[in-house]
Amino acid sequence: MRANQIRFPAGMALLTATLLYSLSCQSDDEIKRQRYITEGILVYKNNCANCHQTDGKGLAALYPPLAGSDYLAKKDSVICLIRYGQQGPIVVNGKRYNRPMPAQPQLSDLEIAELVTYIYNEWGNETKVTDVKEVKPVLEACRR
Ligand code: HEC
Repeated sequence: MRANQIRFPAGMALLTATLLYSLSCQSDDEIKRQRYITEGILVYKNNCANCHQTDGKGLAALYPPLAGSDYLAKKDSVICLIRYGQQGPIVVNGKRYNRPMPAQPQLSDLEIAELVTYIYNEWGNETKVTDVKEVKPVLEACRR
């Protein structure tokens, strides 16, 4: 009798916790994705938007777009280009650009991962994280 009285509220608490968890509908992966994107937006605004613009559409013939860019198909190149910059020329969506993009050595591996996650979720049709663990070996391979 006494044991029952104790077990009942514990069972209710567990049931309530399970219910709340399933209602919140946010997996750990989704929470991580949102965190990367939120940070990525800030890194983008502070380091990239000047040239590529907040909407990612670039600026005339000077700065190529990231939104809808066919260059995004080469993610490893994008990761390396962010850290080490790029000496022109480059072709994006059939248009030729020919200006140097400055290297961004101030960005950490994690910031590059957050940035790439933001860019690909916002403008590259992805709905997943590009984890810093994926970015590290790519940066290692193109290290200068
Ligand atoms: C000073 C202006 C400038 C800044 C700041 C800058 N870029 Fe660029 N970016 C360029 C130019 C110019 C090119 C084209 C380079 C060429 O002609 O070879 C380019 C090319 C690119 C490309 C490949 C082409 C494309 O449009 O898909 C990507 C991706 C890119 N930049 C991402 C970034 C990211 C991310 C940042 C922020 C960390 C950044 N850039 C900061 C000027 C800039």
